Amino acid sequence: MPAMDIRPVLEEHAAALWHQVDEATRGPDVPADPVSELLPRLDDRPEGGERSELWLGVVDGTAVAIGDIRLPLHDNTISAEIDVRVRPDHRRRGRGREMVDHLLRRVTAEGRSRVFGEIDEPLVDAPGDPEHPGRGFARSLGARPVLFEIRRSLDLTMLDSSKVAALRAEAAGRAAGYSLVQWVDRAPVDVRDDLAALMARMSTDVPLDDMEWEPEVWDAARVLAKEDGAIARGRTRIVSAARHDDTGRLVGYTDIGVNAQRPGIAYQWDTIVASEHRGHRLGMLMKAANLEQLQQRVPGVRLVHTWNAEVNRHMIAVNEALGFRAVERWREWQLDLGT
Ligand SMILES: CC(C)(COP(=O)(O)OP(=O)(O)OC[C@H]1O[C@@H](n2cnc3c(N)ncnc32)[C@H](O)[C@@H]1OP(=O)(O)O)[C@@H](O)C(=O)NCCC(=O)NCCS
Repeated sequence: MPAMDIRPVLEEHAAALWHQVDEATRGPDVPADPVSELLPRLDDRPEGGERSELWLGVVDGTAVAIGDIRLPLHDNTISAEIDVRVRPDHRRRGRGREMVDHLLRRVTAEGRSRVFGEIDEPLVDAPGDPEHPGRGFARSLGARPVLFEIRRSLDLTMLDSSKVAALRAEAAGRAAGYSLVQWVDRAPVDVRDDLAALMARMSTDVPLDDMEWEPEVWDAARVLAKEDGAIARGRTRIVSAARHDDTGRLVGYTDIGVNAQRPGIAYQWDTIVASEHRGHRLGMLMKAANLEQLQQRVPGVRLVHTWNAEVNRHMIAVNEALGFRAVERWREWQLDLGT
């Protein structure tokens, strides 16, 4: 069998080939990001607090495998996130293994000893189904599943707007003393510090099960860098946040990202309410208001996807009330190197 040549992706032609493999390995509902999203990643500049590397595996002139590495820079500096994908018509020939071995050598050279990867699976395994490729692959590496998540989706074409409006109104009635603040892309300058504190809490307050992810370190500069990164990739960020009237502080936010080149599919990113402000329906208020803002600001969105840990009861209850339905299981896998 011919050897696979593994090359770094540093220019647009290689990025286009990388993107073709990415597209060939994904379904229609969670497709590959548009190729333009790769371009800001080619110049080796850190983006939103992490550095990344893209690798392409070529056999006889055909791109068959891809690798993606993300290296956090401000926290979790012993960890790396990786992703490996092999074109369906080139699987079970050891290409995935060759690529992952390469990525593990690279992250080790960067001083990282803990590796994470996310793999999607069907919601339920039917009896007699063959082993799921991603799960078989992760197990063969000695990785262990550490976090169980469910992807839920909301079909906006079927959305009952009056129901969302009623949920918003009901939540607003229970949220006296708080005001809604909304923006698109860039946060107002006066909320950046509060937003940084909330983003740090996103890494400590969400259920992590057995995932050994350290608390993230955020400041206003990193918030700005994250916004820069999203804008450079062509992603529109729709945000609804809650301000505590007495103190003027921002105490919660939720954001949805959508690429302007492919507005049909939007992604729920973060949702958090600071612990001392929970129990006032701010989660529902912000999420219902943000769905309305999304529809006003980005016409053409058909689906919104959200990922929640299976144990995240409160967030799931809000999502289900808004009409999100479970479609897929996702697991985070952890591999500790050299143990
Ligand atoms: C997972 C994936 C990368 C594997 O690529 P691949 O080139 O077929 O993998 P390899 O041939 O190198 O397989 C290495 C080992 O993984 C395990 N494995 C791979 N596919 C498997 C499957 N369908 N069922 C059971 N085990 C499997 C086996 O132990 C295999 O060794 P073996 O063939 O000697 O038994 C590929 O199926 C893929 O792109 N899936 C979609 C994306 C994904 O889930 N990526 C993982 C994210 S890190």
